[in-house]
Amino acid sequence: MKTYIVGNWKMNFTVGESSIYLHKLLKRIKPAKGMQIVVAPSPVALQPLSLQTDRKKIRISAQNCWGRDFGAYTGETAIAQLKGIVDYCIIGHSERRHIFGETDKMTKEKVAACIRNGITPILCIGETESERTFGETADVLRDQIVAGLSDVSKEDLKKVIIAYEPVWAISSVKGAKLASPDDIAQSVELIRKYLKSTYGKEAEEIPILFGGSVNPSNAGAYLTIPGVNGLLIGGASLIADQFNDIIEVAKRVRA
Ligand code: PGA
Repeated sequence: MKTYIVGNWKMNFTVGESSIYLHKLLKRIKPAKGMQIVVAPSPVALQPLSLQTDRKKIRISAQNCWGRDFGAYTGETAIAQLKGIVDYCIIGHSERRHIFGETDKMTKEKVAACIRNGITPILCIGETESERTFGETADVLRDQIVAGLSDVSKEDLKKVIIAYEPVWAISSVKGAKLASPDDIAQSVELIRKYLKSTYGKEAEEIPILFGGSVNPSNAGAYLTIPGVNGLLIGGASLIADQFNDIIEVAKRVRA
């Protein structure tokens, strides 16, 4: 399975800054076999960056989309409008769920819209700190997977990526803590178990990424957790040198 290194830039950088960043990274990155590098800029930068990038080195992802193809949805962007511009789309990020009130139904529709339009959804799931404290992690992960993938057929399953992001480990969350490799291994095992019980053997092909305060010093440890197929990086992806260092660590770990 490929190793995915995905940078989620969130609502940062102007179009010009995004383009300068991509230019720097393209110059530095040497493509490695079996590794997929992806950056997710703001919506305004998606088209210019898709024209600028070298897709053999870096692919472009959206950070969100709407679940319908065209229509009266003021302010939204259909994934159908991003066809040919992005290869991936992050869906159900905890900031969408917890700041913007995104429901499981919306997440499900967005995942289905991505698949319908030939774009790979990166479905984010993860428990909050209080859910973890009350022992609800397993239920939350199961519910988010079941809901998010409920319109995905067995044949389409291989077009999906899951990102496990415990909300309490995301660097911008107040009081964020580092997730231990044991915590992550346990959750990833649960996720794989739910996927297998729903989809059978096909579930083994779904990449599961980890995200939450990943940086160049802990990336190696996270990538060696059994069942972790890549990283979704927020804060550290905003600094091209750090993002590139994480890519180098990934190359060493996977070599
Ligand atoms: P972080 O963000 O790496 O800054 O913790 C991860 C994310 O929100 O995807």
